[in-house]
Amino acid sequence: MHANPVFVAIDTTDLGHAKALAARLKPHVGGVKLGLEFFSAHGPSGVRAFADLGLPVFLDLKFHDIPNTVAGAVRAAAGLGVDILNVHAAGGPAMLKAAVEAARAVNPKTKVIAVTVLTSLGDADLEAVGQRGPAADQVLRLASLTRNCGLDGVVCSAHEIGALRAALGPDFLLVVPGIRPKGADLGDQQRVMGPKEARDAGASALVIGRPITAASDPVAAARAIAESLGC
Ligand code: C5P
Repeated sequence: MHANPVFVAIDTTDLGHAKALAARLKPHVGGVKLGLEFFSAHGPSGVRAFADLGLPVFLDLKFHDIPNTVAGAVRAAAGLGVDILNVHAAGGPAMLKAAVEAARAVNPKTKVIAVTVLTSLGDADLEAVGQRGPAADQVLRLASLTRNCGLDGVVCSAHEIGALRAALGPDFLLVVPGIRPKGADLGDQQRVMGPKEARDAGASALVIGRPITAASDPVAAARAIAESLGC
């Protein structure tokens, strides 16, 4: 029996629906991910409502600002008792170090991870914003910087797991969205991988939204994914 690596992405502004759904899914997932959509509507009190449910929370707000401001935001977020929070690696070394120091000072158990290159950006987009591509090289460059600054891991696409695991070692957290069980609707995700394939490739956690939340029976969908993972 494995620990369940699935963080279900609750992407909604409907607090009642979000809480009811999370309560029903609790036996079949390992945590919830709350992002900008939910946080912009419900803020810290919305996050606390999930902490009260007793499920680990990944607060996906992708902070990116000067070090002092990010440190303050991270202190506030870690103070909500979340298990994982994130920043943009492109904020640079001083910002990354400030983020991890701030989190450790408030809650040593909060994991701080970084976004490297948004999976919505291709090589031409990197060129347009003046970043050195190809995207795969930039991902590895920013993930190495993230580890060297003392953070716990990165968010990455399933197709980056192999290269990052090999370069960054077994303990670095690789948190992976873009997961689709066989036959599931792709939605706006393009390069996807199945849950078991991603876990077997070395993912530490899987972020799964619509294949669970938009299913006609979300509990059955989450249970089937958990079973496929041997959880
Ligand atoms: O519904 P779906 O499974 O595509 O949801 C994936 C979740 O992961 C969404 O909350 C999305 O914002 C997030 N995410 C992503 N790709 C990234 C980073 C985060 O899909 N590169």
